Amino acid sequence: MNAPSVATREAYDDLVERLQHHAYRYYVLDDPEISDAEYDRLYRELLSAEEEHPDWVRDDSPSRRVGAPPREGFETIEHTIPMQSLANAIQRDEIEEWLERARSYVGDPELDPELVLEPKMDGAAVELVYRDGVFTVGSTRGDGRVGEVITENLETIRNVPLRLRDEVEVPKLLEVRGEVIVATENFGRLNRALTEEGAEPYANPRNFAAGSLRLLDSRITAKRPLEIRVYGIGSIEGPSFATHRDVLAYLTQLGFRVSDRIEVVRGIDAVQRYYDELARDRDDGDYEVDGVVVKVNDLALRERLGSRSKSPRWAIAYKFPARQETTKLLDIGLQIGRTGAVTPVAFLAPVSVGGVEISRATLHNADEVERLGIRIGDTVVVERAGDVIPKVVKAITAGRDGSEREWSMPEACPVCSSELRREQDGVVFYCPNSTCRSRIQESLRHFVSKGALDIDGLGTKLIEQLVEQELVKDFADLFRLDVETLSSLERMGEKSATNLAAALKASMRPSLDRLLFGLGIRHVGERVARILAERFEGLDDLAKATQEELEAIHEIGPIVAASVVEYFANDANRELIRELEACGVEPQPVEGRKSAGVFSGKTVVFTGTLESLTRKEAQRIVQSQGGKASSSVSGKTDLVVVGAEAGSKAEKAEKLGVRIVSEEEFRRMAESESIE
Ligand code: IVH
Repeated sequence: MNAPSVATREAYDDLVERLQHHAYRYYVLDDPEISDAEYDRLYRELLSAEEEHPDWVRDDSPSRRVGAPPREGFETIEHTIPMQSLANAIQRDEIEEWLERARSYVGDPELDPELVLEPKMDGAAVELVYRDGVFTVGSTRGDGRVGEVITENLETIRNVPLRLRDEVEVPKLLEVRGEVIVATENFGRLNRALTEEGAEPYANPRNFAAGSLRLLDSRITAKRPLEIRVYGIGSIEGPSFATHRDVLAYLTQLGFRVSDRIEVVRGIDAVQRYYDELARDRDDGDYEVDGVVVKVNDLALRERLGSRSKSPRWAIAYKFPARQETTKLLDIGLQIGRTGAVTPVAFLAPVSVGGVEISRATLHNADEVERLGIRIGDTVVVERAGDVIPKVVKAITAGRDGSEREWSMPEACPVCSSELRREQDGVVFYCPNSTCRSRIQESLRHFVSKGALDIDGLGTKLIEQLVEQELVKDFADLFRLDVETLSSLERMGEKSATNLAAALKASMRPSLDRLLFGLGIRHVGERVARILAERFEGLDDLAKATQEELEAIHEIGPIVAASVVEYFANDANRELIRELEACGVEPQPVEGRKSAGVFSGKTVVFTGTLESLTRKEAQRIVQSQGGKASSSVSGKTDLVVVGAEAGSKAEKAEKLGVRIVSEEEFRRMAESESIE
């Protein structure tokens, strides 16, 4: 559907403001007034208006949140007021001592100040500078004095206001401080996607937030589900306040989101009660919280208390116990993944870490075991943070009694006895046998999982039985199962068997992206699968794609492209796809498929100096729209784009009768549907 056009500048402004309002309801208040679909419709209307009238585009348009092309590095900026850190306490006594010190510092033994309690969010600290209500500069905390300028990345965060709401007095200058965080659930999902794609996952949500903010390409940051919660201000030229609570209320009115668990209390008992409640909810929270920040509410009193060199006297962090515990390493086993990758797993004496009982933890790979110097029987430190799989972080060697055993990677797969191999130059060992029972089971588990075919009622135990009894050897066999066979399985009643057969049948028309993800092609995670499905109508089309064609797709790099080509070049895989089709599996093209791009199959040459684009950017545009950028003109060239002072290439093009266009025409082509 084509979005209706926005005819006037006023209508455009109105649309920007409506979208801002709804984004605020959604991302800041968490209380939307319209459906997501309605929002998307308005947003598309905005995009088409901006495409038609590039001169209308406002600095605070929601479309600016998509990110800008990569930069070389970050500039630095000195914070006008240093961003200090907080002194830590881990016990109630220390909070008491902190209050006592405050009393003696101001010389008032009776002092019982109001205290604001806030969750201590575990993310990345940032500062946002607004001039006359407009977001102008954003930076990391850095070393507290000097931070890095990451404005473009911060602009992509949906609840960072690009312009302040003006229902209250808008300050001339405002420096807002807050924490950029990622919801634990999103962190887990994205980290898994990164791993699938062969990228290095982040160790915890904090690293994820900090890492995403420091990406040089803000278009990638734009895709990361980051959020901000603000907790204070630096300098302000505007209204003044009596309390911290008032500052937070004002920030909320300006359009910022603050933590939703703020309380104002007096006395240690109330602090302890809040701490206990927050600690109890720690595992169910939307994001990682590593303690409570206790702050003096009265700003005049804060002034009197002042700061020590690194941290203020008016606040303290009351930290939760670390999510680390020690326990005994009972044994080390191996897990064989669907790609054959072998992961050593630690079997542990059960221990509660941050409230969850742990008896297994990953050891990642053989090199890691060696690096940690771990022996079976050792006391080890295990860590669990947020959605992260528990891991062993170190061995405590002091208490060894000589009974500990060293471990080394076995030579054979414990499941199928094939000789394990080591990836070239890699740290990962793998089982090369594609019919290894463990590999088949894990592939099937992946194939039926939520992001793939999402087949209800096919749990791990059932898959194990199906594989052990050789009823299922590959994906296609799943669709050959009938109610009779299924009900002959252990713990499978007639009713569950009927349900499962129905679920299998219902999953035979998956969308192409889900099927692609389910096949388990290396480096093809959910995101890549989606990108491919947006370009190709079906598996046959994709199977024919060349390395170059795949690489020309924006966001598909050479590694992913090679892996896709390799997958479809393999006879066994092609046979598997034929089998799936023979069983009646019919992948459906995804909605919103993108056409191949206006430069599809065309070779474009640039010559002379371009004004509005760098040569790299221009070439990237051609590639992202299916074309090839070349440096020399020949009979195969389809288009030559001439900039200022173009030389012999333009002449040659003319001789060969190749179409020549100006930079401006090129830009118009890139934005149009076709170049004919
Ligand atoms: S107030 C003078 N409030 O903790 C410092 N900080 O160790 C004032 N943090 O770098 C900081 N949640 O990144 C404050 N509700 C909160 C916070 C918070 C997380 C972080 C912040 C800061 C670090 C201080």
